Amino acid sequence: MEPMIFDSHAHYDSSQFDVDRDELITEISENGIGTIVNVGAAWAALPITLELAEKYPFIYAALGLHPNDVEDLDEEKMEQLKQMCQQDRVVAVGEIGLDYYWDNVPCDVQKKWFIRQLDLAQELDLPVIIHSRDAAEDTLNIMKRYEGKLRGVIHCFSYSKEMAREYVKMGFYIGIGGVVTFKNGKKIKAVVSEIPLDRILLETDCPYLAPEPYRGKRNSSLYLPEIAQTIADIKGITYEEVVDKTRENAKTLFQISE
Ligand code: NI
Repeated sequence: MEPMIFDSHAHYDSSQFDVDRDELITEISENGIGTIVNVGAAWAALPITLELAEKYPFIYAALGLHPNDVEDLDEEKMEQLKQMCQQDRVVAVGEIGLDYYWDNVPCDVQKKWFIRQLDLAQELDLPVIIHSRDAAEDTLNIMKRYEGKLRGVIHCFSYSKEMAREYVKMGFYIGIGGVVTFKNGKKIKAVVSEIPLDRILLETDCPYLAPEPYRGKRNSSLYLPEIAQTIADIKGITYEEVVDKTRENAKTLFQISE
């Protein structure tokens, strides 16, 4: 049997999948993808993500407001988010974090709701999926306050290998996706070679960040073998080892037993 891939980060709620969502998800499930965590990261994406997780037994939900979408949040919505996160199929809070690349939401507003959502994850004993872009120092400083109290993954990791080492030391996983296949992906290749396989999760972040040779196209879990093979090549191990170990890692983090 071919090894089953775990996609730890996908956005099948995206309108980019409106034309063929069900056909595509069926095709994916028949092509070696065993499990998917769908990440609902904007307010409108939360109910769609819950519906997908209800409909497909191999899809689980992560719910949390992306740093560029936290302006939608208020106390009432935080309470609703908490209710939603307590549903059976929800396995994580996220993606949450800081993103200073886009400046549409002020840093202090991002920090406030990042911390509130980290507190929510701690309260509900759920792992977190962290999004951090151009905000390495602030993210690490906040995460350090939760050291030993939260588990999770730093998704679409874009920082140095030294920073990756910090997170690994704190018990976090590192999410590796399409960027590792890019010709200009030297930094992330160095991260992959630095950190142990038992700290790596496979992710697509689809519809974004399709790997080579599909770069620029709409991404989907069908392209995950390219990412797994690239990691195998960097580490000098087999494709099967990468797929099996990253699936085991994800099942441990999200507490999925199947
Ligand atoms: Ni994402």
